[in-house]
Amino acid sequence: MEEPKLKTIAVLTSGGDAPGMNAAIRAVVRSATYRGIKVKGICRGYAGLLKEEIIDMDGNSVSDILNRGGTILYTARCEEFKQLEVQKQAAEICRKQGIEGLVVIGGDGSFMGALKLSKQGINTIGLPGTIDLDIACTDYTIGFDTAVNVAMEAIDRVRDTSTSHERCSVIEVMGRNAGYLALWCGIANGAEDILLPERYDRNEEALLERIANSRKIGKRHHIIVNAEGVGDSINLAKRIEKVTGIETRATILGHIQRGGTPTCSDRVHASFMGVRAVELLAQGTSNRVVGFKAGKYVDYDIEEALQMKKDIIEEQYQISKQLVR
Ligand code: ADP
Ligand code: F6P
Repeated sequence: MEEPKLKTIAVLTSGGDAPGMNAAIRAVVRSATYRGIKVKGICRGYAGLLKEEIIDMDGNSVSDILNRGGTILYTARCEEFKQLEVQKQAAEICRKQGIEGLVVIGGDGSFMGALKLSKQGINTIGLPGTIDLDIACTDYTIGFDTAVNVAMEAIDRVRDTSTSHERCSVIEVMGRNAGYLALWCGIANGAEDILLPERYDRNEEALLERIANSRKIGKRHHIIVNAEGVGDSINLAKRIEKVTGIETRATILGHIQRGGTPTCSDRVHASFMGVRAVELLAQGTSNRVVGFKAGKYVDYDIEEALQMKKDIIEEQYQISKQLVR
């Protein structure tokens, strides 16, 4: 093993938490320790960095966390971090604390913060942690698999009661402006309709007609998986009931999707990505985001990664429609 190019690194989680973030923290701490690099944990993201909420970590600090949802380092959003002066101050704090490298686990916003810190001379590596799957440079984000499974199970439950009462159900899943959670749940739950911000044309007349038709062909429920980015689920349910006469309920799954025991996939990907981040820092690399593309772990320049665009895979969307009777 090569002599690491730095002696001390830190790790923080930022933006919305995601199941599997703890596995990533553990991998960073354990693989750094393995290489003889000291690790500090920064609590509450960039807000905690500015307040110097910094703790020493070792192999023991990350025992028994692999199976825990959330993040042991807590997370926060910090608007003031967008200011250059504040970024300079944060870099100064890192230097004072002996932090030469930083692993940032979060989404695009958090990577932007990491990019700014790297411009101030702190080596940074981003790890994709978000249930939304909305990071363009990677096919996989830590937390998506758990969230999509939690949502899928919840939708199965709603479907049972919806069928028993012969109702229509509008079920809203998270995802901010992205429809990945909704598309995957829609396919996994056999939803009659999937409304995605990237695709929904807001042709409500056509939607109402499909609901009426599915009743005519003998369906006992009509499940609509609605993405948060489309929203308006409660009013949509009211309009459906009014026009079709079919009793309709709206269920907004909310933060239930963000908690709970991470799946095997989330733990394993997070572990590999955490180690990759430390390897990059140990080589003296900075300003990279780790991703998983076409079955391989890769890394990109943060600026390049942030410029990449991502969209729903059209073929998957079309297939989701073919599977509905
Ligand atoms: P996510 O990382 O999940 O995309 P946010 O968009 O809320 O979540 O961003 C998390 C945090 O990243 C913000 O609260 C802020 O501290 C930091 N951040 C976001 N955008 C910038 C920016 N343009 N410059 C510096 N820091 C930023
Ligand atoms: O980015 C993760 C996410 O859960 C989004 O799906 C959602 O739009 C947002 O965070 C909710 O944020 P908060 O927990 O601050 O309400």
